[in-house]
Amino acid sequence: MIVLGIESSCDETGVALVRAGAQGTPALLAHALHTQIDMHQAYGGVVPELASRDHIRRVVPLTRQVADEAGLALDQVDLVAYTQGPGLAGALLVGAGVACALAASLGRPVVGVHHLEGHLLSPFLSADPPAFPFVALLVSGGHTQLMRVDDVARYELLGETIDDAAGEAFDKSAKLMGLGYPGGPALARLADFGDPRSFDLPRPLLHSGNLDFSFAGLKTAVRTQLGKLGSNVCQQSLANLAAATQQAIVDVLVRKSLAALQRTGCTRLVVAGGVGANRHLRAQLDEQCARRGVRVHYPELALCTDNGAMIALAAAMRAQRGLAVPQADHAFSVRPRWPLADVSAAA
Ligand code: KG4
Ligand code: ZN
Repeated sequence: MIVLGIESSCDETGVALVRAGAQGTPALLAHALHTQIDMHQAYGGVVPELASRDHIRRVVPLTRQVADEAGLALDQVDLVAYTQGPGLAGALLVGAGVACALAASLGRPVVGVHHLEGHLLSPFLSADPPAFPFVALLVSGGHTQLMRVDDVARYELLGETIDDAAGEAFDKSAKLMGLGYPGGPALARLADFGDPRSFDLPRPLLHSGNLDFSFAGLKTAVRTQLGKLGSNVCQQSLANLAAATQQAIVDVLVRKSLAALQRTGCTRLVVAGGVGANRHLRAQLDEQCARRGVRVHYPELALCTDNGAMIALAAAMRAQRGLAVPQADHAFSVRPRWPLADVSAAA
């Protein structure tokens, strides 16, 4: 079975083709990505209308590109998948419209995929894929969640952020420091030159006894520290503040992940979503988990942030289990707000 996946939920247009047998891990045949970062940079964040228009320009050429790279004709595609949500409504509609039109013209089924399901299954495309069950730490620009994953479509929410997401904490702190968009990678680069002990920043909910997160207070603390530093802040102080901010976020993510592993008894941790690309987070998780005999699995770096491969993969893994429900009459719909629990068979 050949599955085409289309991702357009935010500021990346991703298209990919995977091949899946009746069982076993699907194989990635080709994937292509266009990031809109340069376009949104001038505005300091994603401009939804510009994002939608750019997806329109990119999605068809990218689809042709992956078909060429895989050496396949589009009529060899057996199943078309697209990100149905959560995300920006206009951006989602582009991928949904193209996917459903293409599937209708080919006479093939089309399925809507949950973006976060794509992220949390994405390590299955890595050289070192996980096995079920595992704890998943989903850390993206819009979400911070800990899930227990027993199988495809069997997700139990263990904890989540009550305000800002981890990626948002990176992005907002970086913006306050004048580091541009997207802030996470920029802040992480600057942090390499700083001393995290120079500033005492809060670690909200660290000792809350549950698996929830809160990052809004951290952003306020960063603003306060910047105010104290004044307008002539030197580069070293900024690097120190970046390092302290990164350390505060990483400390909370690591501590809560370890608590989730302990609570569930799982011995595998999957880290997915854009913040999973953070090298400091990876190093801390690797070290702490190794001490406890826990294996940590990450997606390939190129598949950490948004991409079409994870959407094709999630659809293929669902199809293998008879869980890919096609859209009736190829009619498309999007779900800008969509809890992951809604796509869990256990829900
Ligand atoms: O998963 P993703 O590509 O998109 C969403 O679904 O949100 O995640 C994007 C988020 C942004 O907040 C970005 O700043 C963050 O991931 N990010 C990072 C790094 N790379 C991306 N945060 C910290 N360190 C990084 N290296
Ligand atoms: Zn994402």
